[in-house]
Amino acid sequence: MKDSVPNESIRMATKIVHSGEAHMGAQGELITPIAQSAVFCYENQAQVMRYVRDEEKRFEYARYGTPTHVAVERKMAALEGAEDSLLFATGMSAVTTTLFCLLSQGDHLVVVEDAYKRTRGFCTETLPRFGVECTLVPPGNTRNMLAAIRPNTKVFFAESPTNPYLAVLDLPPLIEGCHKRGVLLIIDSTLATPINQRPIEFGADLVLHSMTKYLAGHNDVLGGIVSGRADILKRLRDFQGEMGGSADPHQAYLILRGMKTLQLRMEKMNESGMAVAKFLEQHKKVARVFYPGLKSSPYHAIAAKQMSGYGSLVSFWIKGGEAEAFRVMDALRIPRNAPSLGGVESLVCHPASLTYYKSGRALREKFDIRDELIRYAVGLEDVEDIIADLNQALAQI
Ligand SMILES: Cc1ncc(COP(=O)(O)O)c(C=O)c1O
Repeated sequence: MKDSVPNESIRMATKIVHSGEAHMGAQGELITPIAQSAVFCYENQAQVMRYVRDEEKRFEYARYGTPTHVAVERKMAALEGAEDSLLFATGMSAVTTTLFCLLSQGDHLVVVEDAYKRTRGFCTETLPRFGVECTLVPPGNTRNMLAAIRPNTKVFFAESPTNPYLAVLDLPPLIEGCHKRGVLLIIDSTLATPINQRPIEFGADLVLHSMTKYLAGHNDVLGGIVSGRADILKRLRDFQGEMGGSADPHQAYLILRGMKTLQLRMEKMNESGMAVAKFLEQHKKVARVFYPGLKSSPYHAIAAKQMSGYGSLVSFWIKGGEAEAFRVMDALRIPRNAPSLGGVESLVCHPASLTYYKSGRALREKFDIRDELIRYAVGLEDVEDIIADLNQALAQI
């Protein structure tokens, strides 16, 4: 396949549109087709032998990839500056398959506490059943985070920015500290995208994304991806064949289509996220805003060093409790009351109820998921409309 444009000579926006895709398809088609086949065939046994001896690149079975998967993976590797990428059916499938692949009985894992709830649950509840110990560390001080590393620690799993409190980790010293101790570092960079942050440039071993969010960007498809060192990706690719969390070709196509507007969407979302955060910060009914782009954020200095934009997820505490939060949620007219983030449509959620109700108050208190917390995922609507809507909703309390 002749590449659309050589990678090394082009900038980000051009990579987003062209990288990973053929200059033209076998029939001259511009768009990478959906290779909607579960099975791939061979001309004869000679071709089978060339394939199994790695002398000829072929496809075999869609669980091991299709040409549509490869286009997403190659595009993502180009955006992250990674040696390779591997597509998964969901972000959680990327998390669980990667950790199962890298950890064995007797190993220890460090996870940043303010991680996506399901990731944290897998690490603290499921992995221990397989003899893997897990320590949670609060995000922030790098020395304290590194102090959790033990002689049997294999992996440090971090999110940056974190979800929902948008803590930003100081990546270069964290990565260096892990590597000095022989620990592999994985960053879930979902909230940043490669437009705002590229952890591989700082030396991270693996970077992971829920593509369901900004990368696919249209709230209509699930997906996950892991990028990084080719030697690890080779093991992971083989292990995915066993675990089975592969994407479907049609899903890969929707992700690829969504990705092509990533630069434009992120520019607008960075702008709107900042405007909403600034609006909320000065509002008298708002007690605290969590957004790394704000100068008042304890993470702003670090974020400004390693990120080129701060995204569109804004978390805030209103003045009041559950009743007031519910009133604001129900008064909002533009965002849908729904989980997720990073899509075209604005979404708002009350994490203490939607995400954490069943976990019980003790767990909510442990992770500071307060009744007054609202998480707003700003979409692509006009930001003045979004702010006017927030203003009228906050006037209800
Ligand atoms: C930071 C982060 N990582 C991973 C995931 C899981 O991704 P998915 O929903 O695609 O399985 C999520 C989902 O909300 C997330 O917010």
